Amino acid sequence: MINNIEVERPRECLTIGRIAPDFTAVTTEGIITLSQYRGRWVLLFSHPGDFTPVCTSEFIAFAQLYPEFEKRNVQLLGVSIDSNPAHIGWLYDIYLMTGIVMPFPLIADRDAHVAELYGMVNPDRVYELSVRDVFIIDPNQRIRAILTYPASNGRNMYELLRLIDALQVSTTYGVSTPANWMPGDPVIVPVASTLEEALERGTTSLDDLTCFAWWYCFTDLSDLTPLPKP
Ligand code: BEZ
Repeated sequence: MINNIEVERPRECLTIGRIAPDFTAVTTEGIITLSQYRGRWVLLFSHPGDFTPVCTSEFIAFAQLYPEFEKRNVQLLGVSIDSNPAHIGWLYDIYLMTGIVMPFPLIADRDAHVAELYGMVNPDRVYELSVRDVFIIDPNQRIRAILTYPASNGRNMYELLRLIDALQVSTTYGVSTPANWMPGDPVIVPVASTLEEALERGTTSLDDLTCFAWWYCFTDLSDLTPLPKP
């Protein structure tokens, strides 16, 4: 309060590279704490509400691709501000419709604790704008990617898997991935860090590097060895 005027404080903004705030929450699989998943990747995703069509299609899609997330050591965690009985009722309906038993926990964030921590609540309260958030969290619990979708349009699970593949390759090999990269495609190696290296890259045809400029070189992942674990 300044001079009797309510001043809105800028909210702490979660960004890529920050440690994911820990929380404990009630879910459809009992009480969980984010930090219990240390050592695994976590895909934390919010949805606007239970018993809604787009969200239902997303949960069915996540469940159908669950083995792909498992293969990548990714724990899926859904969250919305609905109650746990509402979640259970909705997942039960999905089971009756499809035969799918939802294979991952859905957080009942009744007091919006998780939503507030992760900035999932749009400060303008514009419901349609920022209700489908995705946080990809690495095994050290650092936030590695943040995506936001509107209420009207469902997420693409294949893009989420592709992004996880790209993040895992970058983490393991210290490389980047180009636009539209798919697993198996060449990757981008770090820019030359000495003049000697730059000259070598710019003028020589190197066995395992394809360079279009000294700062723009690709290689096959099979030619690389994983970085030492920190
Ligand atoms: C849906 O999931 O269908 C939905 C949820 C909230 C607003 C609009 C659509």
